[in-house]
Amino acid sequence: MIVSDILRLTQQEVANVLHMFDKAFSPMLSSEIDLDSYARKLSKRASFIIVTLGGHFIGFTACYVNLEQSKIYVPLIGVLPQNQRIGVGRQMLDTLKKVCCNNSINIIMLEVYKNNHKAYSFYIKNGFVKAEDRGEKWLMSLQLGTNKTGNVSYE
Ligand SMILES: CC(C)(COP(=O)(O)OP(=O)(O)OC[C@H]1O[C@@H](n2cnc3c(N)ncnc32)[C@H](O)[C@@H]1OP(=O)(O)O)[C@@H](O)C(=O)NCCC(=O)NCCS
Repeated sequence: MIVSDILRLTQQEVANVLHMFDKAFSPMLSSEIDLDSYARKLSKRASFIIVTLGGHFIGFTACYVNLEQSKIYVPLIGVLPQNQRIGVGRQMLDTLKKVCCNNSINIIMLEVYKNNHKAYSFYIKNGFVKAEDRGEKWLMSLQLGTNKTGNVSYE
């Protein structure tokens, strides 16, 4: 399994990823948003972590890195169904935490549907807590620690 560093993708690359992972989400991404318009938006502002296995894409994370506010917002994280529950999601979060560490970012935020039990369990297992009730979704946050030198640490 190869986990990329954080990187930017072209609009076409983002569109390919969204189409490839559409069915991994419940509800399907395309039932809620126009994938090509969303790809345009993400390619302008978001960064990505991608995971490949044997040369095939198996997971991706999209994130907005806000250096001014020292926070990262994750709009999407997805792993192909046949590759779930083997630690791909956790490895992408670990990469995200390193990005936080390297940029003095101390909080990661995301939203999850309350009925998305797999994802909710995944976030709780990785240290996220509920930050706000947003109706059918929870806003969740992961606060990263600060060590004695004032640097952000995540262990
Ligand atoms: C949420 C998601 C990204 C987790 O990725 P993953 O690679 O499967 O997660 P990991 O293998 O790192 O972690 C496994 C943990 O996640 C949770 N989990 C993953 N799949 C699960 C399942 N089918 N049922 C229950 N819990 C599940 C559990 O807490 C599990 O720990 P456990 O195996 O000890 O019970 C993945 O399930 C996914 O892509 N889901 C569909 C897309 C989605 O809903 N994304 C989140 C909203 S944007």
